[in-house]
Amino acid sequence: MPKQHIYVLGLNVYDHDVSACLLRDGAIAYAISKERITREKHASGFYKEVVDYCLSAEGITLDDVDLVVRNSYILPVPEMEERMLHQDMPGFLPIAERNEAIKHPLFRSKSDKVVSISHHLAHAYSAFAVSPFKDGVVMIVDGVGNYQADAMESHPQDGASPLARESESYYRFEDTRLECLKKVYMEPARGLLSDEFYNMPGLGALYSRVSTYVFGDWNKCGELMGLAPYGRHGQVGSLLEMKDGELHVPFWGSDNQQPFVLDGGSWDKSPTMQHWQDIAWRVQDDTENVLLARARWLRETTSAKNLCVAGGVALNCVANGRIAREAGFENVWIQPAAGDDGIAIGCAYYGWLEVLKQRRSFVMEHAYVGRRYSDAEVAAALQNFLVRIQVDVRRSDDICRDTAKLLADQRVIGWFQGPSEFGPRALGNRSLIADPRKAEMKDILNSRVKHRQAFRPFAPIVLAERMRDIFEGEEDSPYMLIAKPVRPEWRDKIPAIVHVDGSARVQSVREETNPMLYRLLKAFDALTGVPVLINTSFNVKGEPIIETPQDAVSCFLTTGIDHLVLHDTLVSKTTMHKVVTPVMTTFGDVATIVSSTTQDGSRGGG
Ligand SMILES: [Fe+2]
Repeated sequence: MPKQHIYVLGLNVYDHDVSACLLRDGAIAYAISKERITREKHASGFYKEVVDYCLSAEGITLDDVDLVVRNSYILPVPEMEERMLHQDMPGFLPIAERNEAIKHPLFRSKSDKVVSISHHLAHAYSAFAVSPFKDGVVMIVDGVGNYQADAMESHPQDGASPLARESESYYRFEDTRLECLKKVYMEPARGLLSDEFYNMPGLGALYSRVSTYVFGDWNKCGELMGLAPYGRHGQVGSLLEMKDGELHVPFWGSDNQQPFVLDGGSWDKSPTMQHWQDIAWRVQDDTENVLLARARWLRETTSAKNLCVAGGVALNCVANGRIAREAGFENVWIQPAAGDDGIAIGCAYYGWLEVLKQRRSFVMEHAYVGRRYSDAEVAAALQNFLVRIQVDVRRSDDICRDTAKLLADQRVIGWFQGPSEFGPRALGNRSLIADPRKAEMKDILNSRVKHRQAFRPFAPIVLAERMRDIFEGEEDSPYMLIAKPVRPEWRDKIPAIVHVDGSARVQSVREETNPMLYRLLKAFDALTGVPVLINTSFNVKGEPIIETPQDAVSCFLTTGIDHLVLHDTLVSKTTMHKVVTPVMTTFGDVATIVSSTTQDGSRGGG
């Protein structure tokens, strides 16, 4: 039988946010991050789970895949895999995965159908190749990319040494043709081997350094952005400076030497809090100014109207808002998986466009690219005897109307619909939804489920056609990646989503891309006159966003979520819940118990 489709598989491998993206005839069929399957946040290591998830969802095998394109931001993948044969690298390939990896057909593959590409090139393809624009420019800024010696795209040479690392890359594109205009490298940082990244003199690396300084974790940049508006202007000296169009990162001086403390219960009562707030303000302000200068330079040197953005720094929605409003582009499109999970998309499109020389024919209009779970799979997640005896399960003929009533009654809803979102944000298919009309809802969400630091804001979803009534700025924000000022007349109406600086990280919802979420907002608007809801990720602190119906049920049972909506089924806790879940936790892990009687016993990849 002739082959029906051309398949390209893109993979981000070995360090944080391992992920896969499967293209079917040049369109994203499925994409998934390893963390959603293994339940370990930012999961690193081997990529078997994500490959299996995509192939299984499509009903094909690896033999059906025409091309595999991979990236590791550390070394070219063949070199990484050679080293792993004779060198223990538990951070990149845990011992438990080693035997499995060595037997896998992609590990050390010599096939010419398995390609390795460099990091910023992959980010660039993830941005322009699926954007709605025929031509424009691309801005890639992240923590750290590949070595200069491994960067594949030709670019203006500026004397960077072979061991310098990618920090920023700027491109122009027209249709499928990509041209690099400028790359900013970080020269090797001297210091102890273990703190190389901590000392790298680049924009994203510096932001991560401050995240480490404040939170004890390089990957808490979103929290740092949330903390910034509490800081005092100008109390901390510059951390990033532009001089004659070039970035300078001043030496990390002795002014900033408060030791960080790990994020604990008393973290925000620390006497160092004011200093942390001040330094957060400084690094955020410096970052916005550098990014704005870069974006303006790109526009002025190319006269481009369209800007595409990716790389971890593109998750900074406050800076994105300023770029969208102030840099002078007519249109800005940000890859929703802007961090390294999105590398899988970029690898796949490099394969489709550059290796296979195919045409651009796909626009990423939404991020719901996980697999779809059937109603039978949803029902199976509620079948365990210990689950059944503590929940009331009811099919609804209008789940949006019924859920809107519960929301208006201040109930916290776990909302599970359709395929999962790819990228770090829950965009309404794996979300916790709540009423934004009372400020206390923030505390309710935190005390019952999220357990976040009190300073962190919750984000709103809004009917797209009402966004400009409630939030300032013309630009669309379908991926919750642009912060906008809330109009003054609305701030008291939706206080739970207004940050201390009067802004909100808004997601606009269109009927075409998420009809269920749109109908939920419509129903809530009809009841309350407010077309806005709180949307936060369906997880508890420190865990990845849920993927499967089983994940949803176990998160529901072990937290203070009031009701769970699985497709059109409304699940409520009965009085037995207070007795049974503690018994379950006595005998084992609730997630394992919930999963133990599903129809085929399988998890996400099945
Ligand atoms: Fe990156």
